[in-house]
Amino acid sequence: MSKQMWGGRFKKKINRNFFRFQKSIGIDWKLAEYDIYHSIIHTVALQEANILTKKEAKKLTDGLTGIFKEVQRGEFKPNSDSEDIHTDIQNRMEEKVGELAQKLHTLRSRNDQVVFDQKWYCYKEGIYILSLLNVVLSSLNYLGNRYRDVYLPGYTHTQRAQIISFLDYTGAFFCMFERDFERLDNFVKKSSIYIGSGALAGSAIPKSAYSEGIKKFLKKVKPDIKIGKSKTVKNSLDNVASRDFVIEFLNILSILQMHLSRLAEDFILYSTKEFDFFDLPEEFCTGSSLMPHKKNPDFLELVRGSSGKIYGNLVSILTTMKGLPLTYNRDMQLDKEPLFSSTETIENELSVMCDFLKGIKVKRSQVGRALEDQELYATELVEFLVNKGVAFKAAHDKIGQLIRYSQDKNIKVKEMKNADLAGFHKELTAKAIKKVMTPEYAIASKKSLPKKKRTSSKKPKG
Ligand code: ARG
Repeated sequence: MSKQMWGGRFKKKINRNFFRFQKSIGIDWKLAEYDIYHSIIHTVALQEANILTKKEAKKLTDGLTGIFKEVQRGEFKPNSDSEDIHTDIQNRMEEKVGELAQKLHTLRSRNDQVVFDQKWYCYKEGIYILSLLNVVLSSLNYLGNRYRDVYLPGYTHTQRAQIISFLDYTGAFFCMFERDFERLDNFVKKSSIYIGSGALAGSAIPKSAYSEGIKKFLKKVKPDIKIGKSKTVKNSLDNVASRDFVIEFLNILSILQMHLSRLAEDFILYSTKEFDFFDLPEEFCTGSSLMPHKKNPDFLELVRGSSGKIYGNLVSILTTMKGLPLTYNRDMQLDKEPLFSSTETIENELSVMCDFLKGIKVKRSQVGRALEDQELYATELVEFLVNKGVAFKAAHDKIGQLIRYSQDKNIKVKEMKNADLAGFHKELTAKAIKKVMTPEYAIASKKSLPKKKRTSSKKPKG
């Protein structure tokens, strides 16, 4: 067990099993970078408040910058015996600058640090996820345009419904991910990172000192992200007590995950022998140790399956926060596992998805065979009659009867002679049927949709 940040009032040493149970270093070491940001701002604020001399502040800042560089180089190794990342960096500072490190934590609480660190984590990872989503959107655009001349059977209730264009099909997922992008973008843009809550009641360091700390920090350290909103705290109780930013972030990721799982399910279905519309890129599939013919869609299955974990993480943090008395409670330490788990899972899914989408091949001839299903054109036949002045209900009945007749007599509508058709409606001639029952006619007859712009079908990088 390494040195703790508390202990003066205790006579007994902490129980070893309890210590192991309560430490969080194995998880929260990922916040090291942001915890150092907090410490640098705090050091400058202490100097501004005349609690540290200029020389002392410099020594501390230099020490912190040294650890920061280790983190950046991926060389930072936390001591697994530290209680948490805040304690670990404090101990590292004692090794680096000696007794002076004891002044670093003056008028500060880990309650203020932990929320600062996590907000920064959400902000930074949010920006990264936005960049991944952007590539997924380009990949979908590429895929849609690559097969923009392809028509597909569209489904409702997983039953064949009407003809759709492939571009609209990929476009539907594009719209979903675009809304996910907007939700996340709004979250990132409105993030505010505060400092100066103390444990809960604020601190004796003046606001102006913190502001100066933030200003100098931004100038000196130049973090790789913008923090326009990092300011002194508005309400210290709310700041240390609230984790709705984590819940909101995981909520956005859960909706995104739901969309990913729907895309995964569609592509799994469409790549089965039963549908046989898509050929999945082999490099994202696996084989069977027993059945030599198998090409399994494991990537898509794992994406679909990750919903359990990602929804579970959201419910976990919602439940942890439910009914907690104000302000900070140790229960809140448990928010990090779900936060990191959902963030990393989504990042992994999106990184693979970008390339996966680019490798999808549409099986034109198999799709073409499915388009021969005459029932896909029944609605267009109704609309054709409506355009000839027949009431919709009557037209619906007539075409229903026509389809039924075709099934009973085992003769395709397209192959019926005028004599067969005459009993249904005089406008339903063999010539009219041939015109209407084509994918081109079905798509062209839809006037409510925007014209499709031709966008670049260049393969996106990334
Ligand atoms: N490790 C804690 C957390 O992640 C922060 C420490 C606050 N602990 C405390 N006793 N005030 O929530």
